[in-house]
Amino acid sequence: MTTTKEEQVASAKEAAGRRAADMVQTNTTVGLGTGSTVWFTLVRLAERIQSEGLEIVGVPTSIDTTEKAKELGIPMAGLGEVEKIDLTIDGADEIDGEFQMIKGGGGALLREKVVASISAREVIIVGQEKVVEKLGTTFLLPVEVVTFALPTVSRALSALGCEPVLRVSDPGVALMTDNGNQILDCRFPEGIDDPRALEATIASIPGVVESGLFIDLAQVLVIGNEDGTSEVREK
Ligand code: A5P
Repeated sequence: MTTTKEEQVASAKEAAGRRAADMVQTNTTVGLGTGSTVWFTLVRLAERIQSEGLEIVGVPTSIDTTEKAKELGIPMAGLGEVEKIDLTIDGADEIDGEFQMIKGGGGALLREKVVASISAREVIIVGQEKVVEKLGTTFLLPVEVVTFALPTVSRALSALGCEPVLRVSDPGVALMTDNGNQILDCRFPEGIDDPRALEATIASIPGVVESGLFIDLAQVLVIGNEDGTSEVREK
């Protein structure tokens, strides 16, 4: 039977998403990332809640994930009720050999970073194509910005050597994040030489809410393959 490229990519995401969900232990708090790969994790967690009585409290990283987890019957809590998270499972747009990442393709970078920052363990689920030698070579770097400061932040980012473009939800309509901000997607023509330094520099620009550079936040990488197998790497 032949499968389309789309089916193969979905199969890789499913393999990674389910494998990570099987790492979750009962009576734990679980950060629920955002995106199409995390969808498979949510489905598997719901299955385990039903079939084995897995007891978890999920902490969602976006409105989208909140709605999906609710529909699947996954219990959830907010940051007011949860001080720390045992394990978070999230996708990524690029991840390098040091497990540094670009995230935010789905626009959820701010909440994802907050949840990652209080997680004892962050498990990243991706297909092989997202594992890169150098960040910024296959994906734009998202930067969440308050609306008022878009012109000044855009100029400051350009001065760092990138080309920032306002993300739109429809032609001519700026995308609004779950937090009421906008996103500038930044293209670095040669990729990002020093992700750690760049994260700090961008964070110091007034009006920047958060960047999609995730530094030292991931400990485990689950890579899904198109044949439905998966591989786990530890930092
Ligand atoms: C959401 O803002 C992102 O950080 C996602 O985690 C990332 O884009 C991965 O999404 P997919 O699993 O849909 O590729």
